Amino acid sequence: MELETLAIRAGADPDPTTGSVTPPIHLSTNFIHGPASEETYGYTYIRDKNPTQDRLEAALSALEGGEDALAFSSGMGATSAFFQSLPPGSHVIIPEDVYVHVRVIATTHFRNWQLEYTTVDMQSTAAIAASVRPNTSVIWAETPSNPQMKITDITAVAQIAQRAGAYFVVDNTFATAVLQRPLEIGADLVMHSTTKYYGGHSDVQGGCLVFKKREPLHAKLFHTRMVLGAVASPFNSWLILRGLRTLPCRMERHSANAMVVAKALSQVKQVERVFYPGLPSHPGHDIAARQMKQFGGMMSILVKGGWDEAIRVVSRVKLFQPATSLGGVESLIEHRASAEGTASTAPDNLLRLSVGLEHPNDLIEDLVKALAE
Ligand SMILES: Cc1ncc(COP(=O)(O)O)c(C=O)c1O
Repeated sequence: MELETLAIRAGADPDPTTGSVTPPIHLSTNFIHGPASEETYGYTYIRDKNPTQDRLEAALSALEGGEDALAFSSGMGATSAFFQSLPPGSHVIIPEDVYVHVRVIATTHFRNWQLEYTTVDMQSTAAIAASVRPNTSVIWAETPSNPQMKITDITAVAQIAQRAGAYFVVDNTFATAVLQRPLEIGADLVMHSTTKYYGGHSDVQGGCLVFKKREPLHAKLFHTRMVLGAVASPFNSWLILRGLRTLPCRMERHSANAMVVAKALSQVKQVERVFYPGLPSHPGHDIAARQMKQFGGMMSILVKGGWDEAIRVVSRVKLFQPATSLGGVESLIEHRASAEGTASTAPDNLLRLSVGLEHPNDLIEDLVKALAE
């Protein structure tokens, strides 16, 4: 089946007891078992697995092209469960431009978990290859990266990971399975903050890991999720499953809108740089064009001046809302250096835009006015 069809049908079989077209939500925390605790209906306790979450996981693996998936309570729940499952003494390579709390986990928790790490500019395949050590067990990429929209060559890094005997994980949150297919071009796992485009309406938190092959990691990660507890709730699973139905349509429009906005902003004299991989001027454009179907709804800009000039733009927009997170239908703007705090490596004059589904003319007018005032 094509992706658009899968997004509608995967995990959405009619309820066998009622025939409801819309999947039911099973809120029960526990399920009847036999006298010696034998599983009777396939479920025992909500934290192990539950029927609504099972539907979501089936849909996520079908969409991403993996053998299986695990749904978590948040993207960071998925990320930390993954890192906590690594054997002590493992070495991890992470990007220098990466979602801020991945960097924070590395600086504050990796030592306790007896993990070593190296941060690398993942635009350079050579730099990644040079940082591989005998104990490297994971290369973690995020492409496009948050917030600087840097592009990593997934196929090239997959080869490095394979040679090193390391797992290659791609945070596919910005691109989604609609625009980028890491598991088909060499990644072993994909991570998503499903809080973003998968939910799609800024009203649900979640995360997931999708496994190209079930073996050898799925059972271990299932156990980690169960004992550490960062599991997706039935209601959140249901909302994300609902969001997936419209994902292909939304990503098409997010991408089209963002492309028009990026081109318009490139012409504005108060804008020093536009980081959008769809622009031929972007250093990762050729790689992005090869590995992405369209370029997504995220971009960042450098405002001429510094911190104060950037903040002033955020204070002046009327349609873009100053808020964190991304991937909803509404357009958002954020000064990342102030949002990320001391762990930030974002330039002082960087604004991140999550381009929504409004008409792009209105979005451009809002930004141009706010920049010009
Ligand atoms: C690229 C990326 N990865 C991971 C996360 C973490 O996800 P969550 O907020 O669902 O824990 C975020 C959150 O903004 C993100 O932007």
